[in-house]
Amino acid sequence: MPTSPLTATEQRFVAQLLAEMTLDEKIGQLTQPEKNSVTPEQVTRLGLGSVLSGGGGNPDPNTPANWRAMVMAFQEAALASRLGIPLLYGVDAVHGHNNVVGATIFPHNIGLGATRDPDLVRRIGRATALEVAATGVRWSFAPAVSIPQDVRWGRSYEGYSQDPALVSELAVSLIEGFRGDGWDSETAVLPSVKHFVADAAATWGSSKRVNREAMAEVQNADQSTDQTLAIAHMDQSFTELLKLGAWQIDQGDAEIDEATLRAVHLPPYRAALEAGALNVMASYSSWQGLKMHAHQYLLTDVLKDELGFEGFVVSDWEGIDQIFPGEYDRCVVAALNAGIDMVMVPFDLNRFIDSVRRAVLGGQIPHTRLDDAVRRILTAKVALGLFEHPRTDPALLELVGCDAHRALAREAVAKSLVMLKNDGDILPLRRGGPAVLVAGLDADDVGVQCGGWTVSWMGGRGPTTPGTSILAGLRHTLGAEQVQYSADGQLDAEPEYEVGVVVVAEEPYAEGMGDRASLTLSADQVALLGRVRARCQRLVVVLLSGRPLLITEELPHWDAFVAAWLPGTEGQGVADVLCGDLPFTGRLSFDWPQNSSDLPRRADSAALFPMEP
Ligand code: BGC
Ligand code: BGC
Repeated sequence: MPTSPLTATEQRFVAQLLAEMTLDEKIGQLTQPEKNSVTPEQVTRLGLGSVLSGGGGNPDPNTPANWRAMVMAFQEAALASRLGIPLLYGVDAVHGHNNVVGATIFPHNIGLGATRDPDLVRRIGRATALEVAATGVRWSFAPAVSIPQDVRWGRSYEGYSQDPALVSELAVSLIEGFRGDGWDSETAVLPSVKHFVADAAATWGSSKRVNREAMAEVQNADQSTDQTLAIAHMDQSFTELLKLGAWQIDQGDAEIDEATLRAVHLPPYRAALEAGALNVMASYSSWQGLKMHAHQYLLTDVLKDELGFEGFVVSDWEGIDQIFPGEYDRCVVAALNAGIDMVMVPFDLNRFIDSVRRAVLGGQIPHTRLDDAVRRILTAKVALGLFEHPRTDPALLELVGCDAHRALAREAVAKSLVMLKNDGDILPLRRGGPAVLVAGLDADDVGVQCGGWTVSWMGGRGPTTPGTSILAGLRHTLGAEQVQYSADGQLDAEPEYEVGVVVVAEEPYAEGMGDRASLTLSADQVALLGRVRARCQRLVVVLLSGRPLLITEELPHWDAFVAAWLPGTEGQGVADVLCGDLPFTGRLSFDWPQNSSDLPRRADSAALFPMEP
């Protein structure tokens, strides 16, 4: 039996408010546009319930103070509406408040999975919530509780582990950190548990996100009606990525049976709900051919009725549009009736509002369903104390990227490193020893070590946000005179170094743009490794990646190998462990595949390195 998270008085408050609302005000609460597609004036006039920043939905210039001003302008606009219902602003703070230049960027979830440290993840949740609240935001689209089974998936790094129990444990910790002293405290941040459900169970090749034939003809992004892809085009060679496998599995179809769905993919939702999560995001993916955004059985019968979820379900970005492509009214009806409560529109809010109004007046969406959706959204707003304190304390701004949070991120980085080979105990590197050759552009690139979802949706190379590169960390720890750096590894014949450290990385990516048919190192990376190998007696390789890559052929040439995942801004944490100031304690939370025939993971796959217990 579902029990409301609200007191009897609060429930009466919600019921009274609902009774006062006009049809249009109710529809306004369900509507979530992206901030670039809406003005504060519209928020007031239409009584909108939410606004979001998509990946890279930043103010210009991108500073914490500007973020706060932007969010608060929308909040003031909501408070100025007829009923003054506060706004719930949403962001993807998925590894720290990652859209904000200057925020602390923590390791992506795959790295946190390797720490196996729930207390650490709880503290990261709290620090993230404080930085988010500092900018006036009380809702983050995290944690992803995906349980990746096929690491060719571009969202693998969003998952803590392939193991449901570990995912549940760490997701609950993050949620506890988001909650802090209580959901109604000023710095609590509403989690969005995503993506419901079995987003990570899709079959390679089943994604229909991109019409590959049409893409081959349409070279000009502006001719595409798909705005998401139009945005994606702007700084990516998109056709090139398609050849590498982009959008082959992300948003695809999970062909698993219900017993597997329940045993593997549902448990973290149950755990998150028990921890008080009041928002869940629907997955773009399908189950047995039916889009999750239209899946009444899973959204309503299972999530709401069986698991007793009393919060609200938000759709993903343009997610409802995919149900019946080109037939928007049918999409709206199917999604809301299936159990979606708030729609991440995100572009054309008037089209959405008009469509819902027609459907309710025409009887295709029952009034009771509309009321239920609004009640759920208002419930979350009351639970967050938004009616009492819609504005967060501006003094919190000094916490964004503060020393204490960066120290925490550094600790997380150190705990996330997994040492997979160390012949002859070449690690740790010795202070005061012979000069160490550090090679590779990626050794000195904060953007690369942060990966996707950092300042922009895809993330990017270079100093996109303040942080410490691995090279800077090594120089700090060993002393600049002990570190020789070569970006390209083109070295003179002399001298020969005793130890070389090569850092190689995946290019930053997010979502289906990171789907890859092949997970081997690039020819350039193999060549760099070969050049440095020839100049060093011993070779240490540090890999920055959002997933295990196929390194079986190269590994015999390496003396030591460290998986560093996507550590974020605090590269000093890598140096701390490489140089022995802290021990290697990270453990694989995924099997490390031997070759491509081990993907997707099967019970009988022989991993190169298995997930550790
Ligand atoms: C937005 C992201 C969003 C994506 C949807 C991007 O343009 O910036 O926030 O997740 O589109 O696929
Ligand atoms: C992603 C979500 C994200 C949303 C908002 C979508 O593209 O799938 O994970 O929360 O955009 O940025």
